[in-house]
Amino acid sequence: MRLILLGAPGAGKGTQANFIKEKYNIPQISTGDMLRAAIKAGTELGMAAKKVMDAGGLVSDDIMIGLVKDRLQEPDCANGYLFDGFPRTVAQADAMKDNGINVDYVLEIDVPDALIVERMSGRRSHPASGRVYHTKFNPPKVDNVDDITGEPLVQRDDDKEETVKKRLEVYHNQTEVLLGYYNNWAQSGLPGAPKYRKIAGVGPVEQVRDAAFAALSE
Ligand code: AP5
Ligand code: ZN
Repeated sequence: MRLILLGAPGAGKGTQANFIKEKYNIPQISTGDMLRAAIKAGTELGMAAKKVMDAGGLVSDDIMIGLVKDRLQEPDCANGYLFDGFPRTVAQADAMKDNGINVDYVLEIDVPDALIVERMSGRRSHPASGRVYHTKFNPPKVDNVDDITGEPLVQRDDDKEETVKKRLEVYHNQTEVLLGYYNNWAQSGLPGAPKYRKIAGVGPVEQVRDAAFAALSE
């Protein structure tokens, strides 16, 4: 299984990626998680990316395409992969095509903007595993502690209200165009075209998971 998850910041891409990667035994390629790991490691890339991310902008296409191409060389991608947060611009989507990086499905998770700020303000994450929680909607078993490892959870630096608003604006200006890009390609029936599926990202996490699994089996 090879797929792309599309959706606004806070739509639940990371949350659903965790279910889908387990089911299909594929790696989750989250470009946001990769950048946050580079920040934590204090690399030059991390330091440059942090400024852009904290301002709610996008890291340059060349850097992101390079990161993804390197990641796909790793042996765990042989069986398929799940992209979470990539591609985010038409240039990134075109680069995938040019490099023969194909997918079987594009899954859009649809959530209205009005719900996003509340989702972000309650988000808590476990960076080492990519597991995501919410203080109200998807709480861990023990406050601020990862269910599996018992390690502390963290809040993301870019989840401040002003930054979230900026990220939503950037999503509508630069990423949303990809919904039409993939929808049109899927309908073209051309060789290599992915299947396009859209699900509602609102409601209990398990309900969205079941909708995602159903969409990926059609
Ligand atoms: P990235 O990490 O990709 O952030 P994002 O796209 O803004 O998405 P999020 O991770 O914020 O949301 P999500 O959809 O994963 O939602 P989640 O499951 O966590 O990117 C961060 C930054 O890195 C970018 O701004 C950019 O600067 C840079 N970057 C990354 N990739 C790039 C690229 N390709 N090109 C250029 N720059 C790039 O859920 C959110 C919250 O909601 C959680 O608390 C969760 O528990 C809760 N929740 C989930 N589902 C539900 C539900 N059904 N009901 C209620 N709550 C729910
Ligand atoms: Zn995410």
